[in-house]
Amino acid sequence: MNGEKVLITGVSGMLGSSLLKLLPYDNIVGYASSELNITDHKKVQNVLRSEKPDIIIHTAAYTNVEACEIESDKAYLVNVIGTQNLVNYAIENDVLFVYLSSTGIYGKEKDTPYTEFDAVNPTTVHHKSKYEAEKIVQNHLSKYIIIRTGWLFGGDKTHQKNFVYKRYLEAKDKSVIYSDNTQIGNPTYINNLVNQIMVLLTSKQYGLYNCVDNAENISRYDYVKKIIELFELPCKVKIAPVGMFQRTAPVSYNESSINKKLNLLDLNVMQNWENSLQEYIYDLKKDVE
Ligand SMILES: NC(=O)c1ccc[n+]([C@@H]2O[C@H](COP(=O)([O-])OP(=O)(O)OC[C@H]3O[C@@H](n4cnc5c(N)ncnc54)[C@H](OP(=O)(O)O)[C@@H]3O)[C@@H](O)[C@H]2O)c1
Repeated sequence: MNGEKVLITGVSGMLGSSLLKLLPYDNIVGYASSELNITDHKKVQNVLRSEKPDIIIHTAAYTNVEACEIESDKAYLVNVIGTQNLVNYAIENDVLFVYLSSTGIYGKEKDTPYTEFDAVNPTTVHHKSKYEAEKIVQNHLSKYIIIRTGWLFGGDKTHQKNFVYKRYLEAKDKSVIYSDNTQIGNPTYINNLVNQIMVLLTSKQYGLYNCVDNAENISRYDYVKKIIELFELPCKVKIAPVGMFQRTAPVSYNESSINKKLNLLDLNVMQNWENSLQEYIYDLKKDVE
C-alpha cells in the first residue's frame, strides 16, 4: 500500500491484532497497552512525535462493560481521556483518525435496527464513555472515521474477548448450556470489519458509520446455537430462564443496527453473519482439535 504510515493502538486486543496483521500497509506499527498506556499524555505525545503517523487507528479501550459500571473513573480515563490524548496530536498534525465505537451507544430507544440517523442514548458507563470519546473526535477533527460496531468475533483463542472460543470451551464437555434470547445484535466478523475499514480509508469517506455484518433479529441464543452447531458439539443450547444471567450493566436489549450510510454510498462490504461465522469456525477448529 502507498507511503502512508499507520499507527494502531490496542494491538494485543482482538480487533487491534487483526488490523495489524491484515491491513495491507507497508508502513504500519502497533502499540499494545504494555508499550503505550494511552492515559499517559506525555508518553502518547512522545510516541506519536517519534512515529509521525499519517493515520491513527484507535482500538484501545477499557472494554469490560460490567467492570466499567464499578470502575467508572477508569472507564472515562481510558476511553475518553485516552482518546483525547491521541486526538490532541491529530489536531496539530493533520492526521486521519479512525475511532472504534459501539452500536451499544444507541441505547433502548426502539425495537428495530438502529441507523446512523437515530439519536443515541447510551445506558451503561462503558457506552457513555464511548459516546463521549466520539464527541471529542467529532468536535476537534475534520479528518475522522468513526466506526460503530458490535458483537465482534475473530482473532485467536488467547483473546479474552473471544466469545466464540469461550462458548466452545463452555459446551465441549457439557450436555446442555443456556443462552439469553432477549438481547439482539449483529454478530460481526473482524476480518470483514478490517476490509470495510480499508474501503473507507482508500475511498477517503470521512464521517460516522455503522459497520456490522448482516443479521436480522438475531439473539444471543441464536448466535450461541449456531456456534455449537458449527463446532459439531453434541451439547444442546437452551433458552435461559428469566433472571439466569444477572448483569451489573444495564445493557440495551437491542444492539442491532444496519449500515445505512455505507448502503447509501454503495460502499458496504460487510457480509452475512452466518457465512462469516462458518468461515471463522472452520479456521478456529484447526487450532482447537
Ligand atoms: N468486541 C466487541 O464486540 C466490540 C463491540 C463494539 C465496539 N468495540 C470496540 O472495538 C475496539 C476493540 O475492541 P476489542 O474487542 O479488540 O477489545 P479488547 O480485546 O479488549 O482490546 C482492547 C485493547 O485495549 C487495551 N487497553 C486497555 N486499556 C489501555 C490503556 N490504558 N492504554 C493502552 N491500551 C489499553 C487492552 O490492553 P490490555 O488487555 O493489556 O488491558 C486491549 O488489548 C474497542 O474500542 C471497543 O470498544 C468492540
